[in-house]
Parts: sequence; C-alpha cells; structure tokens
Amino acid sequence: MKVTVHRKAHFNAAHRLYRKDWSFEKNDAVFGKCNNPNFHGHNYELIASVTGDIDPETGYVIDVKILKDIIKSEIEDAFDHKNLNVEVPEFKDLNPTAENIAVIIYNKIKVKLDSKFHLKITLYETPRNFVTYSGE
Ligand code: NI
Repeated sequence: MKVTVHRKAHFNAAHRLYRKDWSFEKNDAVFGKCNNPNFHGHNYELIASVTGDIDPETGYVIDVKILKDIIKSEIEDAFDHKNLNVEVPEFKDLNPTAENIAVIIYNKIKVKLDSKFHLKITLYETPRNFVTYSGE
C-alpha cells in the first residue's frame, strides 16, 4: 500500500532565459521577454511529493519535518531571493527554465532522501504554468 505525502514550499527568484552561445536576436526570437538582460522574477511554488509504504510503528510514510528541513536547507536557502543565473552554481551553464529548475530541485532533494522513496517534483512558475519531474 503506497501513500504519497506532499509538502508545499515557496521561493522568489530572478532569472533570464538565454544561451550565451546564441546572438541576442536568436535569444530574443526563442525566449522573448524572458531574455530581458536585466532579469525578471517569479514567485515559485514547489510541491515535493514523497511516495512510500506506511511505517506500521509510526503510521508515517515520512516524517514531514524531515522533508520540510531538506527543502529548507537544499532549496529555500539556496534559491530564495537569488538571481538563479548569477548566484546559483547549478545554473551557471544551464538555462534556468522551470523544466531545468525542477530537475535540479529533484536531484538535490533525492540524494537527501532514503532511497526507498519515490519523489515527484511539481514546480509552479506562475499560477497557470507548472512542470513536473519524477526522475524518469
Ligand atoms: Ni521567467
């Protein structure tokens, strides 16, 4: 019997979508306003979903406090109020699209979790635009 525990979190961050190896015109054509050289911000909403068996002793799949602390140290402390392109090493040479941010978040949380758990990341870049990633 598998049950999924979800933890919501939030961070504000700035980014610019572009490739250094493309001209400004090509970046503008592909990324539009997101290629603004002065960056722009988003209020990112994160949902980390952990699936596993219920521990018969505790009744928990995972103690949410553990998940909360991992998100705090690995994601919020690293990303909140940061310029992702400039201040977060993972995006030095990786375009900080919602897709790539979700993969980085997945990788950072996954290594901190017991390997018995299945992890899925849902990342909202805007209230209407969101991506999911679960390691496949
Ligand atoms: Ni953007």
